[in-house]
Amino acid sequence: MIKRTLMIALVALAASQSVTVSAQTAAAADAPDLKRGKLLYIQCRACHELKADQPHKVGPNLAGLLGSKGASAEDFTYSSALKAANLTWDLKTLDRWLEKPSAVVPGNAMAFAGIANPKDRASLLAYIVSETTAK
Ligand code: HEC
Repeated sequence: MIKRTLMIALVALAASQSVTVSAQTAAAADAPDLKRGKLLYIQCRACHELKADQPHKVGPNLAGLLGSKGASAEDFTYSSALKAANLTWDLKTLDRWLEKPSAVVPGNAMAFAGIANPKDRASLLAYIVSETTAK
């Protein structure tokens, strides 16, 4: 049930960003694609684990990410910039972060330029949320 609500929120997020597709095809074309999300996650995998029993890497473990406070993973040394930003990781903030981390928190320590394509971000988020939300 929680998962279904999340998927609906992600579809809504993707749909709200649609600029090019027509109204009829928007829903289908913008539905987040978990398989694609898993593929896109390859870009994050070197630095982030998703399950609570896994260690931090260069970046913090992302277990329980959705709805959590930014910079709140235990035993991870965050940049002072991310700590001071005092974010809550809701879908909108995560989407902005993935688009361009340096625009959300200038001076953060995540060496990643961002993902320009909104549907790719929605698919990646759908994958990460499904993997990091306790079932
Ligand atoms: C080169 C390593 C690296 C890559 C690649 C990377 N990250 Fe990060 N990430 C980090 C670091 C380091 C931080 C902590 C940033 C800070 O303290 O300013 C971070 C922080 C985060 C946070 C905030 C976590 C929290 O606890 O507040 C999220 C969410 C995140 N990354 C998601 C991603 C996603 C999704 C990808 C793939 C698109 C990705 N990262 C790619 C290193 C990386």
